[in-house]
Amino acid sequence: MSQTESAAAWSEVAAGWERRDPWVSAGAKPVTEKLLERLAPRPGHAILELGGGVGEVGRGVAARVGPDGRVLITDQSEAMIEVARRAAEGVANVSFQAADAQSTGLPAESFDGVVGRFVLMLAQDPAAVIAETHRVLRTGGQVAFAVWASAPDNPWGSTIGRALLDLGLAEPPEPDAPGPFRLADVDRVRLLFDSAGFDHPILDEVPIAMRYASFDEYWDVTCDLAMSLRNALRELPEKRAEELRSLVRERLAQYEGDDGLEIPGLARVFSSRKLPR
Ligand SMILES: C[S@@+](CC[C@H](N)C(=O)[O-])C[C@H]1O[C@@H](n2cnc3c(N)ncnc32)[C@H](O)[C@@H]1O
Repeated sequence: MSQTESAAAWSEVAAGWERRDPWVSAGAKPVTEKLLERLAPRPGHAILELGGGVGEVGRGVAARVGPDGRVLITDQSEAMIEVARRAAEGVANVSFQAADAQSTGLPAESFDGVVGRFVLMLAQDPAAVIAETHRVLRTGGQVAFAVWASAPDNPWGSTIGRALLDLGLAEPPEPDAPGPFRLADVDRVRLLFDSAGFDHPILDEVPIAMRYASFDEYWDVTCDLAMSLRNALRELPEKRAEELRSLVRERLAQYEGDDGLEIPGLARVFSSRKLPR
């Protein structure tokens, strides 16, 4: 999938992400808190969010940099940017721009911090994102990126993909294709930072729990957020779609309790600062 195709695909799910903003925000809360702690934005800082989606992290940062600071929320998808703009209505110190995280076109050394939640592994070339981050940061500026650990560590987000493969309903992805679990190798991510001229990154492991009132809610939420499921359901005959749903339900039954489903996950936050030359 080219970057243009990726932007178009993410635009297709922008309405779903807008609908599920509170759910994503609740599930990812420990990750957001860790990102903000490591980014450590201060009043007056200029902060760039890459792949901001509906901009929840950027809104959190805006509250911290105060009226003398500014946050630029970017995303490759124009539709996501429109949602982010709506969600931040009335917030004075936030602006928005459609931009590819690999090449933003923003001035060099113009930000005190760069943050990205669950975007690095989705770019065609994560090394280009890290290099671009380094370019736009001032010396000493902070970066904090969240990525997912492996697929088995994240059954909330990987069970459907696994079931699609096991039922022969999807082709295995190309090796190293952009995807949520592509940067699960800690050493690889560390090397990306080291090679770009950042200080050796700090790694925080952040366990999460995704909660759903029922399996039906899990399915609906996932249909709203996940392109892979939407695409599969668009093309599958009803019987095959039902088979998929049954297999996923069976595999997630172990996470079912009195209050619905609580499915574990593991994210990682890598943070660092730009070293003087
Ligand atoms: C999984 S969503 C995460 C959105 C948001 N950061 C969050 O945590 O809620 C990934 C977002 O990254 C964006 N994205 C993927 N590749 C990108 C790239 N190369 N440049 C900019 N945005 C990108 C997508 O358009 C999408 O909005």
